[in-house]
Amino acid sequence: MSSYQLLNIEPYTPNIGATILDVDLAHIGDEGLRSELRQALAQYQVLFFRKQTLTPEQQIEVAKIFGDPDKAKAFFPRLENYKVVEVIETKPAGHRYGVDQWHVDISFSANPPTGTVLYSQVIPPAGGDTLWGSSTAVFESLPKSLQLYLEELEAVHSFEHSGWPGYFDQLENGDELYRKARADHLPVVHPVVRTHPVTGKKLIYVNPNFTDRIKGLSRQQSDALLSFLFAQFQRPEFQARLRWEKNTVAIWDNRATVHYATNDYDSQHRLLHRVTFGENQAF
Ligand code: SIN
Repeated sequence: MSSYQLLNIEPYTPNIGATILDVDLAHIGDEGLRSELRQALAQYQVLFFRKQTLTPEQQIEVAKIFGDPDKAKAFFPRLENYKVVEVIETKPAGHRYGVDQWHVDISFSANPPTGTVLYSQVIPPAGGDTLWGSSTAVFESLPKSLQLYLEELEAVHSFEHSGWPGYFDQLENGDELYRKARADHLPVVHPVVRTHPVTGKKLIYVNPNFTDRIKGLSRQQSDALLSFLFAQFQRPEFQARLRWEKNTVAIWDNRATVHYATNDYDSQHRLLHRVTFGENQAF
């Protein structure tokens, strides 16, 4: 059982998520506090902090509490002068990024990031919520016999399978950029069940955005099994849904969760800064 001396934690749902109260993320020098934040992220899988004010440097420092911000990045534009800060921005006539699908960030790479610090700058009056699903809760809900079967399987994750080609279509030199991205990101294989290195909990490691197929099964068998697994993540019991406000920070464990950004706010302005962090070996 985890114990906390310094953090004031309000669980968000029984299975996933917590709001951390009374913490100013701009000033987290104390190693005791940093250690409790790491412990809370492992336990609750996604942490929410309201009313935060962070410069890009301070957001990068927050990411460093949990890992190395220089690890794998997606295809979002970067903040000027800050190569590790990704800018997720939607505005009238702007680009859409295809994050309205359940995904593990960059699971199409051999060593995906272990987590993310997402900080809201502009949020529509309604809509644009982000949801997280617990991959450990999904694993634990399955019958033992199915857990054992899944533990023997591996799945192919691929950039090409993702929603990202739709993003490249919107760019002027999109065909060329897409061809390069595809050549740079060849498909990788991950186990279908992984063990979280911090908690020791088992989790289901497939997601509809990037998991193409399960090895050793026919296409029909693979599609049917993946559809079944993806459907488990749809269960509201395993989800936390964040209604953003300006100056909210969400930090998630990218090993133990999947996430989904709702696309229900037309072309209203929505702007967040994202810093992913990782380790030399995610698992
Ligand atoms: C993402 O990191 O997938 C985007 C999340 C969001 O825009 O809410």
